[in-house]
Amino acid sequence: MLEMRAMNQAAADRIMAFQANKDVTSPFEDLDLDEPLSARMQSPVTPPEYIEWLLDSVLPDCINMRSPRCLAHMANYLPDFIATLGSILAPLNQNMAKRQASRAFSRLEEDAIVALHKLVFGFSEEFYVRRREDAGVFGLVVSGGTMANITAMWVARNQCLGPLPGFAGIEEEGADAALRAHGYRGAAVIGSDLTHYSFDKAMGLAGFGTRSLAKLPSGPRGRIRLADVEARISEIESAKAKVLALVGIAGTTDCGSIDPLAELGQLARRRGLHFHVDAAWGAPLLFSRRHQGLLRGIELADTVTVDGHKQLHLPIGTAVLLFREPTAATAIRKQASYMLQEGMQDLGSYSPEGSRPAASIYLHAALSVIGQSGYERMVDATIETAGYMARTIRRRPEFQLLMEPETNLVLYRYIPPGLRDRARQGSLTLGENRIIDRVNEQLQSEQYRAGFALVSRTTLRESLEGSMPVVALRAVISNPQTTSADIDAVLDDQIQAARRGRQEL
Ligand SMILES: Cc1ncc(COP(=O)(O)O)c(C=O)c1O
Repeated sequence: MLEMRAMNQAAADRIMAFQANKDVTSPFEDLDLDEPLSARMQSPVTPPEYIEWLLDSVLPDCINMRSPRCLAHMANYLPDFIATLGSILAPLNQNMAKRQASRAFSRLEEDAIVALHKLVFGFSEEFYVRRREDAGVFGLVVSGGTMANITAMWVARNQCLGPLPGFAGIEEEGADAALRAHGYRGAAVIGSDLTHYSFDKAMGLAGFGTRSLAKLPSGPRGRIRLADVEARISEIESAKAKVLALVGIAGTTDCGSIDPLAELGQLARRRGLHFHVDAAWGAPLLFSRRHQGLLRGIELADTVTVDGHKQLHLPIGTAVLLFREPTAATAIRKQASYMLQEGMQDLGSYSPEGSRPAASIYLHAALSVIGQSGYERMVDATIETAGYMARTIRRRPEFQLLMEPETNLVLYRYIPPGLRDRARQGSLTLGENRIIDRVNEQLQSEQYRAGFALVSRTTLRESLEGSMPVVALRAVISNPQTTSADIDAVLDDQIQAARRGRQEL
């Protein structure tokens, strides 16, 4: 036992030291992880030996997600208390698929789901008491935004193409039979060209194919246009196809932009369509009195995706799909005689996943410990830091801002010295833009290799540069510990990375 305690303490100390160093990772070399695992399986090591190896040989080459200069990923900073919670949750090993395998934790999970439901939809306390008594399902905890979006599309599909006299519903009879029975020639989901690729997965799984996802242009501000949506709905309906869902994004993956949710929600209501809001990134803006107005209209959604491991700062593997109407999940309900009996209300009857870890306890804990005001401070701070970064980029001749940040993602690019005048005048040719694309791709890879700081990169179809695709550096500012000095250091490092790569023209 003593040895175990010493091992736990040593591991905690080493991780703390790794994260206290602000570098993102060690300078890049090919990973040399000793002998192959298949050989080691023949002569197993002791747990302390394994852990020592992990801490000595593997940890230095991990990514320091806590680094305030790691601006590449949407999942990053975890509050300190999460590690302690992890050491409680792992040995307890509760299975959230079933009440009888998790008991008290199931109750905490329900409370956490209801708290998020209230944040998004704002129903009265009485609504929650009454619908809880009716065994309402306010949401499902899943492993990520992808699973939440896939599940939302599954629910929408089953509701649109449900049972009819002589037809058991799409869930039982499949897509072809459903279209025939309902008299449709096809089915589609409408969103912008910035919808997360989880919707492509959803349409593949739903049996309609990825081409049935209608991706409308998002324009230079990264938002779907209402007129385009109206026109596409009419087009689909006049081709005798069914619109399964209209998707609004509250915080796009590429640039953090927010679709006009209120207008989309009203349109969906008028046309009788399922309205899904993918708020995987943006939902925590609701905690901020200053910024919650950006999500006006989210309360009109039928389903909402919230990712815990993005701006709620929970470990990867925590997300919630919320249902405005607590009976909606019956559209995907399943039963298994060995565990999910009628009347038990196990969330495993609805979840796309089976056995499931107690990730919702992280959510319950964070809502209890960080609370409304803590999240508000984090959201406000990161949006302010993103504003600082955008202003700095505008001021510095080495960079060009490619999009005004709507939230806390900053899209920009490095401009080599020989092209700066032309970039300022807005007279870059297509060929020069391609050169700048290459320079930025190399710069981003070089920064990753050096390990001091990191941003990611994407390609914008439209930007302040015009309507031609350009490669953008993408800084995700969601670590509340990132300061303006860190931002300056990241940008300085990029100029150094460009010089090292001899990318000056
Ligand atoms: C808007 C949006 N939706 C969904 C997802 C998918 O989330 P996950 O990676 O948790 O599956 C992401 C991830 O970046 C996202 O940005």
